[in-house]
Amino acid sequence: MQHFLDINDFSREQLLAILARAQAFIQQDLVRDEALLTGKTVANLFFEPSTRTHASFDLAAQKLNAHVLNLDIQNSSTKKGESLLDTVLTLQAMGVNIFVLRHSESVMRSVAEILNPGVRLINAGEGCGGHPTQALLDVLTIQQHHKNFDNLAIAIIGDVLHSRVARSTIAALKMLGCQDIRLIGPKNLLPTDIEGVRHEVDLATGINNVDVIMMLRLQHERMRVMFVDDPQNYVAEYQLNKKTLALAKPGAIVMHPGPINRGVELTDEIADSEQSVILRQVKNGVAVRMAVLTMPQG
Ligand code: NCD
Repeated sequence: MQHFLDINDFSREQLLAILARAQAFIQQDLVRDEALLTGKTVANLFFEPSTRTHASFDLAAQKLNAHVLNLDIQNSSTKKGESLLDTVLTLQAMGVNIFVLRHSESVMRSVAEILNPGVRLINAGEGCGGHPTQALLDVLTIQQHHKNFDNLAIAIIGDVLHSRVARSTIAALKMLGCQDIRLIGPKNLLPTDIEGVRHEVDLATGINNVDVIMMLRLQHERMRVMFVDDPQNYVAEYQLNKKTLALAKPGAIVMHPGPINRGVELTDEIADSEQSVILRQVKNGVAVRMAVLTMPQG
């Protein structure tokens, strides 16, 4: 596969192979391959804010010995009216081999079309549509706790409507056999176009006996209208705290793609608890991105 744009572009076997490769990077079995991108240039183009995704792509490419270009979008010719496609063509002419792109609009397919054969594009977050490398690190984190996805119950709580992470992670979970995925939140923040999931507006009912809890931030920057009229009500109804976590299966893992808003979707106590795997997700992110950057081109 030349590009990495959408979880659904891949088969279950391909997905499992990337996860295995990421796990091998974590265990350093692939340490001898760490110079795999020697002589290659990776360009990180982040048109939206990012800490985890950007830093981990940067580190992953450096660990693989690539030249890494982090374009400073705020001070780039984008501000002089240059289009995204012209920016990409310009950098391609300088010899960039892999583009890592985050953008607020659905631009991935049109960028992929203008790339030369052999030049790769990796989706690092596209509007509300998808964030496939985040999905991989999410399922890798779950896989480290549960060998099998078939019998897992997973709750995704919060602003699912605006979450590209949720969309991609749900696609990956379904591909890996997960049959009990519950989307929990206020009705207007639950997307109606995702199949094979259960909707639940009551947190206590939805979270009952789940193995995995994935919390999401309210993405105010993507809300065109007021989705949450009273933030205090939202906290009262949907916050993960000691009391609400106790309704899940004992030992359930707590995930969050970050950035977390402490005191809103989850309390400090939960974010820093032993059940929280939030920093494990971050750690896995570097290995997943190394695996995607070195995916066979076939
Ligand atoms: C998320 C994103 O940008 O989609 N963050 C991430 O990449 N880890 C989620 C968010 O911004 O809430």
